[in-house]
Amino acid sequence: MIIGVPKEIKNGEKRVSLIPSSVKTLINDGHTVYVQRDAGSAIGFYDELYEEVGAKILDNARDIYAKSEIVVKVKEPLPEEFELFKTGQTIITYFHLAVEPELLDVLIKKKITAIAYETIQTADGSLPLLRPMSEIAGKISVQIGAQYLQTSDYSCGTVLGGVAGVMPAEVVVVGAGVVGLNAAKVAYGMGAHVSILDISPKKLAYVEDIFHGAVGTAMSNEYNLKKLIKNADLVISGVLIPSNKAPKLITEEMVKSMKKGSVLVDVSIDQGGIFETIETPTSIDNPVFEKHGVIHFAVPNIPGLAARTASISLNNYTLPYVLKFANKGFIAAVKSTPELYKGVNTYQGKLTNPEVAKQFGYPFSELSMLIGF
Ligand SMILES: NC(=O)c1ccc[n+]([C@@H]2O[C@H](COP(=O)([O-])OP(=O)(O)OC[C@H]3O[C@@H](n4cnc5c(N)ncnc54)[C@H](O)[C@@H]3O)[C@@H](O)[C@H]2O)c1
Repeated sequence: MIIGVPKEIKNGEKRVSLIPSSVKTLINDGHTVYVQRDAGSAIGFYDELYEEVGAKILDNARDIYAKSEIVVKVKEPLPEEFELFKTGQTIITYFHLAVEPELLDVLIKKKITAIAYETIQTADGSLPLLRPMSEIAGKISVQIGAQYLQTSDYSCGTVLGGVAGVMPAEVVVVGAGVVGLNAAKVAYGMGAHVSILDISPKKLAYVEDIFHGAVGTAMSNEYNLKKLIKNADLVISGVLIPSNKAPKLITEEMVKSMKKGSVLVDVSIDQGGIFETIETPTSIDNPVFEKHGVIHFAVPNIPGLAARTASISLNNYTLPYVLKFANKGFIAAVKSTPELYKGVNTYQGKLTNPEVAKQFGYPFSELSMLIGF
């Protein structure tokens, strides 16, 4: 197979989809890998390291897309990239199609096979390729929140963990999945007073078990959210309803009730976010805005702030799947690896993700009918 690695172009994004060790594995298996010049340079994966393992460096994204059968990316393609797609190509990346209708139209028109990392799902319902980035985003979200509580133009200057004689900050985490758990771990470790909410009692029982009651748990409903949000210094969202837009759980009224200088970190913004006061994502270059005296952070690519760790961690999880597609071909890979079935969002331009089809009122095609099994 011919595999292409374009340089990421989302604002502030320095991650690279395949690191040199992964490229070496693919080349050892007989594949050709094209890497765009400087795709990994910003995080220490220089072109020479790719060349040493046998990759071919190309000057621009146009050539990468033109030459590759499979394009492996990190973030969803942006409009500048749409015209580069080659009809019939396979693209593997985070797509978040529930909030990307324009991109979906291009995938359909150009008959693209789109494998979305975030919808690859194992039999127990877990999302193995969302996990590594959620782990990082969850951890960093607290560091980001702590920084804005201390230093921002709008903040009052609060130390997250408190000091002797001064109470710690109140941190509320909504969603007890991978983002939520990692945020709770860091916030607790920094000495904050932490509460976490979810709709799943099982998830809350797990929090109770691992923190031995040191982190408060509550069911996620309007009543509890209203009460906890009012006293929060930092609110972190880690809610996900797979393939759907996130529900707007935190209303404008709830935000208005918060203390001036408190901070919201909407990690779920890549699926639309849970705060009514956040209409569009912010960016790494311009990450926050203030509304009702509250600092809003809504960057959809938080792991891009820790791009080297994030790229290595991402590769630990994605490479086995990329290898399956490259070594076996699309149909055999999907048939032999059940979790890939849900990862296929479009197959040769046919929309195979039922939730996305429902959301936009588009015709849905069952993948098994298209590839015959
Ligand atoms: N902004 C970024 O850079 C970034 C990075 C990584 C992940 N994310 C996003 O963060 C979100 C969470 O990811 P995750 O891996 O933790 O998902 P996850 O599936 O592990 O956890 C999601 C949790 O949300 C809970 N939930 C669902 N509805 C809820 C509700 N009404 N109230 C409270 N909890 C509810 C679920 O029960 C689950 O425990 C996803 O949208 C993911 O794409 C964003």
